[in-house]
Amino acid sequence: MTFSIVVAFGQKTRVIGKDGDIPWNIPSDMKNFSRLTTGHTVVMGRKTYESIPKKYRPLPKRRNIVLTRNEGWREDGVEVVREMIDIFELLEPGEQVFVIGGESVYRLFLPLCKYLYISYINSLAEGDTFFPEFSNEDFPIIYHVHIGHEDDLDKPREGDDHTYILTVHQSKDFKEKFDSEAFRNTLKIV
Ligand SMILES: NC(=O)c1ccc[n+]([C@@H]2O[C@H](COP(=O)([O-])OP(=O)(O)OC[C@H]3O[C@@H](n4cnc5c(N)ncnc54)[C@H](OP(=O)(O)O)[C@@H]3O)[C@@H](O)[C@H]2O)c1
Repeated sequence: MTFSIVVAFGQKTRVIGKDGDIPWNIPSDMKNFSRLTTGHTVVMGRKTYESIPKKYRPLPKRRNIVLTRNEGWREDGVEVVREMIDIFELLEPGEQVFVIGGESVYRLFLPLCKYLYISYINSLAEGDTFFPEFSNEDFPIIYHVHIGHEDDLDKPREGDDHTYILTVHQSKDFKEKFDSEAFRNTLKIV
């Protein structure tokens, strides 16, 4: 199985959330997220799960796994684990697992991850949850693309409230070549 992180954070601040929500509205990046994770497994903390609007959860066409210490917490279509270690008993050998937040769950899984799919958001929004620090030596950048308006890259894409840099980091412990063509095709990046 392969673990990867998917996250969007403020380029200068590493902010990921505020008051249980995401402090920007970037539909094009939500589409990237959906295209990347559909057909695979997503792992998240209970707070992130509850931050997803009810009509979109459990995230469709994905195996949803939620971490909580609350023995009574249940939700249709969700597999619940009380400890990180329990996740390994649920997973199959070839499974692609995307860790989708929030802060506490990113911290837990970062050391295990092969890829970090990071959208560096051009926003100075304040927040109360952050992506953990990591080193570019441990996770070198292997792919990046600036996403902005097609006529003026300094402006956001229509519908988005910020520009961003979609970036893939690969753990230095994994040497295999990243298939950027397949990645672009999956996300429909032109
Ligand atoms: N920008 C992004 O890409 C992005 C992505 C995801 C989330 N977010 C934002 O991040 C914020 C939420 O992050 P957060 O760190 O506060 O919460 P979180 O990581 O989503 O959830 C925390 C909860 O997960 C459970 N948990 C965490 N570690 C556990 C462990 N080792 N064992 C068992 N259960 C464990 C606990 O649930 P119980 O309390 O039920 O025990 C804990 O309270 C929100 O604002 C959200 O919008 C942003």
